[in-house]
Amino acid sequence: MKVMITGGAGFIGSHLCARFLNDGHQVVAFDNLILGRREHLFPFAKNTNFAFVEADLIDLSTVRREMAGADLVVHMAANSDISQGAARTDVDMQNGTIATYNVLEAMRLNEVKQLLFASTSAIYGEASVKPTPESYGPLFPISFYGASKLACEAMISAFSHNCGIKAWMYRFANIVGSNSTHGAIHDFVARLVKEPTTLNVLGNGTQRKSYLHVSDCVEGMLYGYANVREDFSCLNLASEGVTNVRFIAEEVARQMGEATGVKPQVVFGEGDRGWVGDVPYTHLDGSAYARYGWKARMNSDEAVRQAIREVIAEKVARK
Ligand SMILES: NC(=O)c1ccc[n+]([C@@H]2O[C@H](COP(=O)([O-])OP(=O)(O)OC[C@H]3O[C@@H](n4cnc5c(N)ncnc54)[C@H](O)[C@@H]3O)[C@@H](O)[C@H]2O)c1
Repeated sequence: MKVMITGGAGFIGSHLCARFLNDGHQVVAFDNLILGRREHLFPFAKNTNFAFVEADLIDLSTVRREMAGADLVVHMAANSDISQGAARTDVDMQNGTIATYNVLEAMRLNEVKQLLFASTSAIYGEASVKPTPESYGPLFPISFYGASKLACEAMISAFSHNCGIKAWMYRFANIVGSNSTHGAIHDFVARLVKEPTTLNVLGNGTQRKSYLHVSDCVEGMLYGYANVREDFSCLNLASEGVTNVRFIAEEVARQMGEATGVKPQVVFGEGDRGWVGDVPYTHLDGSAYARYGWKARMNSDEAVRQAIREVIAEKVARK
């Protein structure tokens, strides 16, 4: 099977490239490298089943051309830097909403009939029901990122129903692990590599979210592809439990101390948000997906601990 992975040079996209190649498929990674990294693709450079297209999804004719012959599109590209939306209100519109329209239009023109899509817990906004099920509404996201993803979900629904595209949409928890390009673990470790003695944390550390290890995220997406038979599905993809920022910061400091011999002091800020548009408490209800028989291997705290080990190994080794 030929699989086109948009955002293939990014964090989760690069793990998906590895997985589809290991399973013997042909993979085209499509990425403009605004956030992704070429080095994430180095392990596949000699694989004849792999091709990298450095291009922008805003360019519909290129997307259409590169998608020709694909059996499946895995659409991961987006602006994953949520805080950027408050400063530049068009960034999610371009790289999220319009890019997704172009992916769908290229699928229609190329008659590609299968789509896996990366949505997010951010579409729920500050939900009053926790854990939050897929049926929760009305949906009022509080970030431009969340608003864009909600628009993408709506557009996928319309394309799916009008053009016979089978779509699996996954509302991800916070994904953590190696190759990460952003997020609390990535930022904390990067800051300590620069300044090893003190870790300054945005917010008071009480923010709590569901964390899912990237290996479970990839397994979860592929499990749905193999086992969820509906033509259109939308499922939360999460692990059990939530983890707060205080736990993450202290665990990063502890593991950095072990890795480098310098145990940093952790200093918390004020307020319960890292940035404007940050949702201080998210907890996804994974019971709908559990009814299909899927369960993450690691709970939220285990995923965080494992990801910290992986990110420290990458960044301290790279230094
Ligand atoms: N990481 C998480 O915690 C998380 C949580 C919920 C949802 N998601 C979603 O999962 C997907 C992957 O996220 P990630 O964490 O791997 O982020 P990432 O930033 O590492 O990957 C996104 C990739 O998309 C590429 N890209 C962005 N705009 C593009 C464009 N216009 N044309 C071509 N390429 C473009 C970037 O260069 C990057 O490589 C995103 O859609 C994100 O919104 C991620």
